Amino acid sequence: MTARDVSVYRCQQCGYASPKAGTCPDCLRAGGGWVQLVEERPRPVRGTRGSVATSDGPRPLKDISMQHDNRVRTGIGELDRVLGGGVVQGSLVLIGGDPGVGKSTLLLQAACALAQVAPPVLYVTAEESAAQVKMRADRLGVVSDRLLLMTETDLSVVQASLDDVKPRGLVVDSIQTVFLPELESAPGSVAQVRECGARLMTLAKGRSIATFLVGHVTKDGAIAGPRVLEHLVDTVLYFEGEQHHAYRVLRAVKNRFGSTNEIGVFEMAEGGLVEVTNPSGFFLAERPQGAPGSVVVSSLEGTRPVLLELQALVARASAAMPRRTVLGADYNRVCLLLAVLEKRAGVPLGSQDVFVNVAGGGQVTEPAADLGIVIAAASSYMDRPVPADVLVLGEVGLTGEVRAIAGLDQRLREAAALGFRRAIVPRSNLLEPTKAPIKVHGVATVADALAAVLGEGDPA
Ligand code: TYD
Ligand code: MG
Repeated sequence: MTARDVSVYRCQQCGYASPKAGTCPDCLRAGGGWVQLVEERPRPVRGTRGSVATSDGPRPLKDISMQHDNRVRTGIGELDRVLGGGVVQGSLVLIGGDPGVGKSTLLLQAACALAQVAPPVLYVTAEESAAQVKMRADRLGVVSDRLLLMTETDLSVVQASLDDVKPRGLVVDSIQTVFLPELESAPGSVAQVRECGARLMTLAKGRSIATFLVGHVTKDGAIAGPRVLEHLVDTVLYFEGEQHHAYRVLRAVKNRFGSTNEIGVFEMAEGGLVEVTNPSGFFLAERPQGAPGSVVVSSLEGTRPVLLELQALVARASAAMPRRTVLGADYNRVCLLLAVLEKRAGVPLGSQDVFVNVAGGGQVTEPAADLGIVIAAASSYMDRPVPADVLVLGEVGLTGEVRAIAGLDQRLREAAALGFRRAIVPRSNLLEPTKAPIKVHGVATVADALAAVLGEGDPA
């Protein structure tokens, strides 16, 4: 018996392999409980896998020519930006997300858009019937005679049809439901997912097909089956949604052809996914006018500034121990900022309950929102509104100083485009005057900022 003939026993959760049957020690250690290893019979070697890059031996890097036009814009701007300016021909893109978040919808729309610019496109559905996909397509209003649909779970059949179709774009929905018949394990098992992924990678590279894979996400947030898939593909995008909101965020977590800092925002509407090209307007739609405790800040999501409304409610404490409740921001950071507000600006919060919330279910992670939190709390305490056209930016230190932030110009330009006319910014950011068409007011301390925004007379 040679090493080739021996079975391996593989964990279907993490891909751990062992020569003996039993349970997975890695998953047990990681708190995943007892996971039974599954036998994998050896696969006849047919040389289908191979390496994906064709080699011509070593060459000087400077002599290697590059095709500049191998990126195709799908026409869905938000998707193109997250991909790094369009999808690269011959690349393999994995789109992960919870069931029902809209992966099939997004890819059907993308496939149709791609079919306009890089036909033909083959959409392989291994989950839904052709009629189901057709129904969705009708609902989305996508029609294209250059978009071909194939209902197939056997990947070798798909592969065989590529010669006839010669697609420039391929969608496989989903990687967990397709299989290769030469493997014994069931669709969705680690072995199948890994081999199918590898096969599709070879096909994408070899035939220069822009390939999209749908991957379902398990309860614990990983793409079901193996993490090996994430290593294999060129780009991993996550499609996430908020349960109570119609918006969906597309996020790059790995991208060999672009930045991983970009997000794309969509709204799930009657007629499918609609791009939200102006996410700030979307987030701010329900903003109350002239209400104390509401402040708008700008948070950088990747290279794109997103305006967020911070709300604070300060009310006399009902118990001896005042409450602090924070949603959408870091609890400890808010406590720190409230302490700074009390000590450095003399706003007595010791006997007050404070509630802080980011409207619309948003999240602030950046210190640039510090000053906004401070002003929102002070505004609520003083019962004095912050003018609606004022944006507040700045990091706050423990001595009450307002510190410089990154990307000021970009944030101000976005705010100006959305109708903000004045901004409170760190004074140290103004050593070079900003070119953004907005009136800026530099502040050095929290007390300065309070005087500027909430002081008597005309603010800012
Ligand atoms: P789907 O793309 O099937 O999700 P996934 O492939 O990620 O499982 O989308 C499913 C949800 O989207 C479903 O609950 C209905 C909703 N939806 C709309 O609201 N509008 C639409 O136009 C479409 C096609 C779907
Ligand atoms: Mg689906």
